[in-house]
Amino acid sequence: MPTANIAPGVDWVGALDWTVRDFHSFSTFEGATYNAYLVQDQKNILIDTVKESFADTLLQHISSLLSLERLDYVLCQHAEPDHGGALARVMAACPQATILCNRKTEEILRSYHPTANNWRFQNVTSGESLSLGKRSLTFVEVPMVHWPDSMVSYMPEEGLLFSNDAFGQHYASSGRFDDQSELNHLLYEAKVYYANIVMPFSAPVAKALNGLSGLKLNQICPSHGVIWRKHVAEILTAYQDWHVTRAQAKIVIAYDTMWESTARLAQAILDGATADGVNVKFHHVRKTSFNDIVTDCMDAAAYAFGSPAMNVLPMPTMVGLLSYLKGLKPLNKKGLAFGSYGWSRGGAEGCDAALRDMRVEIIREPISVKWRPKASDLETAAAAGRQLAAIALSQA
Ligand code: FEO
Repeated sequence: MPTANIAPGVDWVGALDWTVRDFHSFSTFEGATYNAYLVQDQKNILIDTVKESFADTLLQHISSLLSLERLDYVLCQHAEPDHGGALARVMAACPQATILCNRKTEEILRSYHPTANNWRFQNVTSGESLSLGKRSLTFVEVPMVHWPDSMVSYMPEEGLLFSNDAFGQHYASSGRFDDQSELNHLLYEAKVYYANIVMPFSAPVAKALNGLSGLKLNQICPSHGVIWRKHVAEILTAYQDWHVTRAQAKIVIAYDTMWESTARLAQAILDGATADGVNVKFHHVRKTSFNDIVTDCMDAAAYAFGSPAMNVLPMPTMVGLLSYLKGLKPLNKKGLAFGSYGWSRGGAEGCDAALRDMRVEIIREPISVKWRPKASDLETAAAAGRQLAAIALSQA
């Protein structure tokens, strides 16, 4: 993949990870990208690096545009190893360069990199600007988007925002720009990324977005996925919706099942919930990735989670999903739990406890059915589905 020009003297020099399918448990079905940007001016600066295993690609890309000994700065906006991993290789190749970062990033980099004591650091803080010559960069710290050290940088002369994790997507594509992929697909990938990476930090994201208002944004250059140049307004609007986790008229039914008893309850809830104007998402938790399920959960108004009892607990995959979802801190949801059991309860009850633990407003007691659901049990489940539909419609 060649470098890509973004603006005069500003080029993408990152790497594509086409075949990665797991990114610290994020299922990356479309691979990943590690974006780095080279700005050439009176001072030359590399904005972020890449995952360590792609250091050669990064160095080749830089070398194709600039002699490595002419690199003046490496800006590290976030120390996580998908962006800071190749720093040791870059600093070995460019020992004259100064690392620009905030104090927190420096602390983390020194922990990760044994050679960091050999590096020259220059700390920057929010609001500080660095003149590169004709262009400049202004730094804005955005703590918890996505680590405490996270920072973005703005180049006012070109209207470029180097947004690091914000506005990213785990998406490897042959085109570097948003107009080279199908927009709805990109927005979905950005939504999956937001739900799985950014959702717990919605408040700092909202604060960061407020800080961007009024800036001229010709392009947003994230550290993952495509560069937004044609659809800047669309991705900003999408983030405005996501950061308040605005609920849609939408229900998520997610279940596991052993011998189809809980599946029958799930189907009855689905039948009850299906109504004009209601978007129902129906997931068997061992057949859909957690990433897709929690993406649906992000903007749903209501949940139904179900599992049979296995050793007095919900089934392991459901336990994992509920634990994962809890960590993502979905806000303002209503819901219920359901499930079957044989001799000891625990499936529906465990789901109910987990929903309460994540502060979902519980709308009824768990639907807990011994062995096979009877017709009356299925009617109870269908009625619960209708209750969910009414909640969803109240959001419309
Ligand atoms: Fe893409 Fe939080 O690193």
